[in-house]
Amino acid sequence: MEKKIREEFSRIFGTEGILYASSGRINLIGEHTDYNGGFVFPGAVDKCIMLAIKPNGTAKVRVHSLDLGESEEFGLREEDAPKAQWARYVFGVCRETMKRGGLVNGFDTVFAGNVPLGAGMSSSAALESAFAYALNDLFNDNKIDKFELARIGQSTEHNYCGVNCGIMDQFASVFGKKGCLMRLDCRSMEYEYFPFDPKGYKLVLLNSCVKHELVDSPYNKRRESCERVAKALGKETLRGATMEELYSIKDRITAEDYMRAEYVIGEERRVLDVCDALQKGDYETVGARMYETHYGMSKLYEVSCEELDYLNDIAKECGVTGSRIMGGGFGGCTINLVKDELYDHFIEVAKQKFAAKYGHEPRVIDVVISDGARKL
Ligand code: GLA
Repeated sequence: MEKKIREEFSRIFGTEGILYASSGRINLIGEHTDYNGGFVFPGAVDKCIMLAIKPNGTAKVRVHSLDLGESEEFGLREEDAPKAQWARYVFGVCRETMKRGGLVNGFDTVFAGNVPLGAGMSSSAALESAFAYALNDLFNDNKIDKFELARIGQSTEHNYCGVNCGIMDQFASVFGKKGCLMRLDCRSMEYEYFPFDPKGYKLVLLNSCVKHELVDSPYNKRRESCERVAKALGKETLRGATMEELYSIKDRITAEDYMRAEYVIGEERRVLDVCDALQKGDYETVGARMYETHYGMSKLYEVSCEELDYLNDIAKECGVTGSRIMGGGFGGCTINLVKDELYDHFIEVAKQKFAAKYGHEPRVIDVVISDGARKL
């Protein structure tokens, strides 16, 4: 990928670019908790978005997506926003950097990636973080701090892509560290690295390769539900809310909002349990919490789908230690914590059963916990 990007950059722009990259992520547990002020437990992975970039001395950005084979050119004023969604990510990062007082001048760039799209592995956060990091290095002497780089990506989603996401994906992409998961408290923004090397286990993702149409932006709707419940509880977010408190306002909120909050409150506890269990090397508890999260995401938060529930069932039948839908939901993959000796059997059964039911195999994605945003 690096070679291709270099070659394409010099073919299109007749010069050499500087290379940067940022990673996709996994999340062991703590889903839909970030925008509720709760905890998340992600790590960056060895799948990234990579770019070559060079200032061009104009006020224009010329960007080429190697994977799509498409180019766009745009200015840096708000009214210059490109139409193509993929280019809006780049434009948004420029604009959000400028809104924070950062400098951005025109540049030429070519980018490509190997983070599977629509798998729930945050390819868009990787793209945002790679550009935020590059613009900070090229034009701002790295004066913008890393949290602000993550926020630039998050605001890009909010203001240019219509997704009211939390901070997890961009945080993981920017802060990722080889061999470590990170527990982030999304209220205080305190974080801690947890070396993650589960001896005797493998972490594997199974991509269902389905992406359900997100009419009515269900992600934003989940967030609104949580905000309504927090308000009814007289709290800023659902962080720290208890099941008893939730129960006490049951007749003042809709049954749907109740279920959503019930999931989030349970999930906050599960992340902390998993951190404790990991420190003790107690993977059985880690796995049990993962199954509970899947149940909550499927039955209470309702962000799973038939295909992912099926993959979860297969994991359970095979005796896999932990399995759950990963990421925002509505398609994408499951993350599975599997004993080494069960791995081959599980993959074979999952492929065979899934293909028999849906006509195609799930894609197996082995991940290595890796560094986040960087200059190459
Ligand atoms: C998406 C969002 C994140 C987070 C997850 C669910 O990936 O971008 O902010 O809310 O969904 O945990």
